[in-house]
Amino acid sequence: VRTAAVIPAAGRGVRLGPGAPKALRALGGVPMLIHAVRAMAASRAVSLVIVVAPPDGTAEVKSLLDAHALPERTDFLVVPGGETRQESVRLGLDALPPEYGIVLVHDAARPLVPVDTVDAVIEAVREGAPAVVPALPLADTVKEVQPAAAPGEPEPVVATPDRARLRAVQTPQGFDRATLIQAHETVTDNVTDDASMVEQLGLPVVVVPGHEEAFKVTRPLDLVLAEAVLTRRRL
Ligand code: CTP
Ligand code: MG
Repeated sequence: VRTAAVIPAAGRGVRLGPGAPKALRALGGVPMLIHAVRAMAASRAVSLVIVVAPPDGTAEVKSLLDAHALPERTDFLVVPGGETRQESVRLGLDALPPEYGIVLVHDAARPLVPVDTVDAVIEAVREGAPAVVPALPLADTVKEVQPAAAPGEPEPVVATPDRARLRAVQTPQGFDRATLIQAHETVTDNVTDDASMVEQLGLPVVVVPGHEEAFKVTRPLDLVLAEAVLTRRRL
């Protein structure tokens, strides 16, 4: 079964602060998106990468893919993204050729995911899981709160879920093609991860071990960590 990766990269990166769209910002001198594309193409199982670009940035993304060394055995497509992550993923799926039976969805904002994590996700889909997510235990205890009515007001705690049963979910998430397409056709509420749409269909989602280096670059401090990880890899 052939495997393709869809990389949603159309977000603005508001939480990272002003500047270019997050996926196009440099990390170790190379755009974050190129790191994410290389991370997917590093898996020998991945033969197509579909990049979902900022709507006004498809030409720029195509020239970036041409300008950076990428494996010969991998094909690349670039499509414009949408208003939400979910819409961007759907637009990527619309471009998926029929011969791909397994689909990974990977955030451009997780540029440093190791290939072993990518391969573990693909392997679990090959073994029959319709949806697979890499995830890690939490370091912090998590509280559910009643969100403040006005900014600055204290927030009452509602509950403390048992931390041992919680996982922080990463990408790439892996799917049986038909399952993911059905999820995107059926689920209309806005969600932040693809696997939760499969859960809403009532289908099983399984967790495989994630990796610390698959963290998402969201806020400025995450860029500092990402640069440090790259430096350590180059030593
Ligand atoms: N994404 C996308 N299309 C959107 C919004 C997000 O393709 N309309 C992508 C982002 O480019 C990113 C991934 O979804 O690779 C995860 O989203 P997030 O980390 O929230 O990135 P942004 O939405 O860009 O950041 P922010 O929420 O801070 O604006
Ligand atoms: Mg976002």
